[in-house]
Amino acid sequence: MKTIRIGMIGLGTVGGGTAAMLEKNRGFINKTANANIVMDKILVRDITKDRPGVSSDLLELLTDNPDDIFLNDDIDIIVEVMGGTEMALTYVKRALNLKKHIVTANKDMMAVHANDLFKLAEKNKTVLLYEASVCAAIPIVEVLKKSLAGNKIHRIMGILNGTTNYILTKMDSEGVEYSEALQDAINKGYAERNPDSDVMGYDPGRKLAILAAIAYNMRVEYDDVYIEGITKIKAEDISYASELGYRIKLIADAKYIDNGVKVHVNPVFMPDTHPLARVDGVYNAIYIESDMAGKIMLYGRGAGADATASAVIGDIIAIAKDICENSIANNGYTLFNERKIIGHKDAVSQFYLRMSVKDSPGVLSKIAGVLGGHNVSIYSVVQEKAHDELAEIVIITHSVVEENMQNSLQEIINLDIVNEIGSVIRVEDEE
Ligand code: NAP
Ligand code: HSE
Repeated sequence: MKTIRIGMIGLGTVGGGTAAMLEKNRGFINKTANANIVMDKILVRDITKDRPGVSSDLLELLTDNPDDIFLNDDIDIIVEVMGGTEMALTYVKRALNLKKHIVTANKDMMAVHANDLFKLAEKNKTVLLYEASVCAAIPIVEVLKKSLAGNKIHRIMGILNGTTNYILTKMDSEGVEYSEALQDAINKGYAERNPDSDVMGYDPGRKLAILAAIAYNMRVEYDDVYIEGITKIKAEDISYASELGYRIKLIADAKYIDNGVKVHVNPVFMPDTHPLARVDGVYNAIYIESDMAGKIMLYGRGAGADATASAVIGDIIAIAKDICENSIANNGYTLFNERKIIGHKDAVSQFYLRMSVKDSPGVLSKIAGVLGGHNVSIYSVVQEKAHDELAEIVIITHSVVEENMQNSLQEIINLDIVNEIGSVIRVEDEE
């Protein structure tokens, strides 16, 4: 049995989980790969750091000298689980140029640099696998690259961030405000080191760019994704959503329209009947609509040491097998479609509007008049008494062009009868 040597960069949550899984399931991992997979060296930032729970065998493999990995001819695969962009990118490029294969969990890097990295991998006849970079345990990258490769993908919608789904679920089930739910998610260790990455929608935006590029065979990058986070969602919105038969979810959505791709991440009123509306807590899910396979939903844990290690180890086994069979495959990353990203202002959607207005005659007709003037037609209206002289109005529109909606909002906010526009949230059409 051939020995395949791994050099790993990072021994944090994911690196620690990967090393532990390799140890725990060593017997059948090696049988499956038909290779003896050995952790050879682990590069970390601070070799003196206290690492409770890490075995003495692993501690012996630690180094803070990158050359111990890069200039070690015995190492076949480099597992990059250090995170960040600049340094990780430098290391991955260096490894590819030294003809080492790469397994990475780094969505920040892949969402921006995938195209260049795949060209470099191809030039060096190496493989770069990145299943762990999107939704950890959910095997979506391989499903899109292989199992659904013959399908025309119409749409990929997903809950791609566990932290925000946990926050929204907690606000819904316990009626708490956003800030309390966020603090709980941080305390439970779900959020990124800078939780803005989760709550502002940047993290799911990166994951969406990675998935859209594979699904639509087109270069799609992080900057192409229109992003809104969940920071403005109030407990009232969650409660109105539930009254009206919806759940609010942070949805990452990539649609194929007019030979182009529209990619956006934003909170959405999902009809209670939609499978994504039922995905709760820290779980992730991805709902795919395609021409032949139809509708598919994948569901599972999108973060954490074990869930992410599962994807990293799967990629290591795939490369180890290929090395042993002398059949290094290509990267399966095809970008044959001309790049066409559809802008957001042309998007069409239903909207939920919550606003506080003066409680006096003629208010509703003034607002309806402005909306109508911009071709925005109303589907339903609810009015509730808020304070002494104010009322709260909730309007759901029919499907309208985004730009028309934004233009009417600019006019509505200047009406003297409008106190505040509380929330504007897109509504997913009933199927
Ligand atoms: P983490 O716990 O912060 O661990 C990072 C590790 O990388 C640490 O061991 C650190 O060394 C090492 N490191 C950082 N900078 C380094 C440098 N310049 N040179 C050498 N080593 C360096 O991070 P993580 O949560 O495991 O995440 C790792 C990657 O996986 C990220 O790209 C992340 O987005 C991705 N990911 C994470 C999850 C998750 O659930 N955590 C899920 C999916 C994907 P020290 O130990 O010495 O500080
Ligand atoms: N903070 C991320 C999440 C971790 O909550 O989904 C995995 O990318």
